[in-house]
Amino acid sequence: MAKMWAGRSEKETAPIADDFNTSIHFDCRMYRQDIMGSMAHAAMLGHCGILTPAESAALQDGLAGILSDLDEGTLTIDPTAEDIHMFVEQTLTERLGDVGKKLHTARSRNDQVALDLRLYLLDEVKEIRALTLGLLAAITEQAERYKATIMPGYTHLQRAQPITFGHHLMAYAMMLRRDIGRLDDAAARMNVSPIGCCALAGTSFPIDRVWEASQLGFPAVTSNSIDGVSDRDFCVEFLSACAVLMMHLSRLSEELVLWSSWEFHFIELDDAYTTGSSIMPQKKNPDMAELCRGKTGRVYGDLIALLTTLKGLPLAYNKDMQEDKEAVFDCVDTVKMCLRVFTPMIAAMKACTCNMYRAAQRGFLNATDLADYLTKKGLPFRAAYKIAGQLVAYCIEHTTVLEELPLTLLQQYSERFGEDVYAAIALTNCVTGRTSLGGTCAASVEAQIASVRDFLAGQAKAEA
Ligand code: ARG
Repeated sequence: MAKMWAGRSEKETAPIADDFNTSIHFDCRMYRQDIMGSMAHAAMLGHCGILTPAESAALQDGLAGILSDLDEGTLTIDPTAEDIHMFVEQTLTERLGDVGKKLHTARSRNDQVALDLRLYLLDEVKEIRALTLGLLAAITEQAERYKATIMPGYTHLQRAQPITFGHHLMAYAMMLRRDIGRLDDAAARMNVSPIGCCALAGTSFPIDRVWEASQLGFPAVTSNSIDGVSDRDFCVEFLSACAVLMMHLSRLSEELVLWSSWEFHFIELDDAYTTGSSIMPQKKNPDMAELCRGKTGRVYGDLIALLTTLKGLPLAYNKDMQEDKEAVFDCVDTVKMCLRVFTPMIAAMKACTCNMYRAAQRGFLNATDLADYLTKKGLPFRAAYKIAGQLVAYCIEHTTVLEELPLTLLQQYSERFGEDVYAAIALTNCVTGRTSLGGTCAASVEAQIASVRDFLAGQAKAEA
């Protein structure tokens, strides 16, 4: 394709330079946003009297035709075009003749590409947000199902205190609810139009930036034209919100991998979300969880790549910034794919409740409750803690558990022990007794579930 900017140069660009420079193979995915942006621009040029009403209408019709032809596949994107902006403008000019050449009045590719990317990401954030809500709902349903299922809670991957599986799952629900908040924050700052910043300095044409922005649904425009074309904070914020979201998926993935091992055998993943081995007939591998964990690295990479690209850039636009899109697109594709596989995998997951309960019975998970018992009987916590520790050591030496020690033996350590200690350290009571706000007892977990369900219902209402 001949260069639309051919003017001052005496030579054609070298083919290798063209290959290096071109971005059409990835920015073609923004064709819809590019055309919508151009239609709004043509409308604004007419609205402000910069073009005649007939010219403005011809441009808008021509652009609409290109959009529907691309959608229907009757027009294919020319891979030799430099980028999507050039392809659309060139096609328009081929179709309309000279009036097509008027579209780029009071505009630059610098504000155009910033606009396209914001429009594209606003759409994608909406999708990722909806997918995240779907996962949040699936996790909350599983938490409801397993709200009374006792399992060991861990610190340092050592058995710590008994909790319920529902409580554990709701911890991830809280993370996802914050992720949605982060996506919303990113979207709010993304939702500002840069169009009309032009190359960097604005324009001497009597444009109406606010009117053009409102045609595209933006509630605001960028305040400084140099910033408007240089700013990629909205991409960085999007990537970092996604990096945190992926970090959460990765932590849960790690637990799914551990829990589905024979060593734990706390869960059974559905066959539809596991794979076999080409050699070992017995294998059932949690590949989907592993891949989500692995792909988290890609998304972190996308974030760091863009931050690094931007860190030394002088104002305003630099071609380095073309590198923003592949990082953003890779992140969008990866996060959507992970969420799409994660949600049904979680929904189909089954807990092996007996194994969880058995694991909670070993490992002295009630040692804190024993110390708490003595503390409630008047002993300072540190002193109670020490006695509980000594009793754990006794149990290890004699291969027994705290709840099986006879009262006479307990009383040798402290005369404050009474018959009621056995109820205080019974596994179920260790769970039901933790009634503090956010704690593991059933009422607390139910309140957490209710709060997330309220949030989900509010989202559904806002959507309707
Ligand atoms: N393909 C370019 C990008 O993605 C579009 C902007 C080009 N602007 C320019 N002045 N060369 O950043």
